[in-house]
Amino acid sequence: MCKNREFSLSKKPSVFTPEKINDLVIKLSGSRKYRNLAVPPETIRDLVQQAEAHGIPAADIEKVVREKLHNIVAPYLGDPDYEKLKTELAAMPDRPQSPILKDWCLKILREHASTRERIPILDEFYSRIFEFTGKPHSILDLACGLNPFSLPWMNLESEVRYDAFDLHQPRIDLIAAFLTHIRQRGSATHTDILVQPLGQNADVAFFFKEAHRFDQRQPGINRTFFQSVPARFLLVSLPTSSLTGRRSMLDQDRRLIDQSVSGLPCEVHEILFENEIVFCIKKGL
Ligand SMILES: C[S@@+](CC[C@H](N)C(=O)[O-])C[C@H]1O[C@@H](n2cnc3c(N)ncnc32)[C@H](O)[C@@H]1O
Repeated sequence: MCKNREFSLSKKPSVFTPEKINDLVIKLSGSRKYRNLAVPPETIRDLVQQAEAHGIPAADIEKVVREKLHNIVAPYLGDPDYEKLKTELAAMPDRPQSPILKDWCLKILREHASTRERIPILDEFYSRIFEFTGKPHSILDLACGLNPFSLPWMNLESEVRYDAFDLHQPRIDLIAAFLTHIRQRGSATHTDILVQPLGQNADVAFFFKEAHRFDQRQPGINRTFFQSVPARFLLVSLPTSSLTGRRSMLDQDRRLIDQSVSGLPCEVHEILFENEIVFCIKKGL
């Protein structure tokens, strides 16, 4: 797991010119590690600006931005072979309930830690969530990762609008092809949801297993972010134990949500699963 340095290393003012920011954007997005992912330039720009605002000396900015970017992209959580999967998809049945398609989706869900951990609870995960929210007509899946491959377990009508967002281009391309293949109404958008405002409203927004990393990227940012999400129900999930499975994270999960919503006009209901907790935030009371 990467270490995450807080932006409090130095109070000395730094000077990072727009040209230097552009040079760093080109250097990092063209690097071997990130070249294929097409990390949005605005993400790197935002990280530099955040570091500057916190007084990181110019000489340390690249190092701090690299650390933050590593934590955002989280390559240690796993990735499938997107090109191979795109070819396989063309030969798959298009019915979401087809056992062959579901097996193929499970294979993909197993490739990333967040979705792999959810497989044992997948049969009840969405039915318990929709019991609370009601069956939605539209869903935003924010920082979606590989979660759209759980669509067969959501049991949605094909007219339900499902819009997925992630900053990882190959993931988004495969998700877009999948939505078209199963004829699910919706879209897959390559964007940094912390920097670009979300265009459309929805009944329900999923923000699964990423709020703790948002807080590492920019401490306290979830409070502003949660308020900006244009959905009546915001469903924020967090893992209840560390990646190694050794440490319980439930207290810190609850603290993070409490800090993010306390004093705001909303109601929070918890759904606790074996290894994941979903905070169902009903907004605008
Ligand atoms: C830990 S995974 C969670 C995936 C999914 N939500 C789930 O629980 O299965 C985090 C995902 O968020 C994406 N991500 C991180 N920060 C983001 C941002 N600011 N905007 C869009 N996507 C982001 C990453 O690319 C990655 O695919």
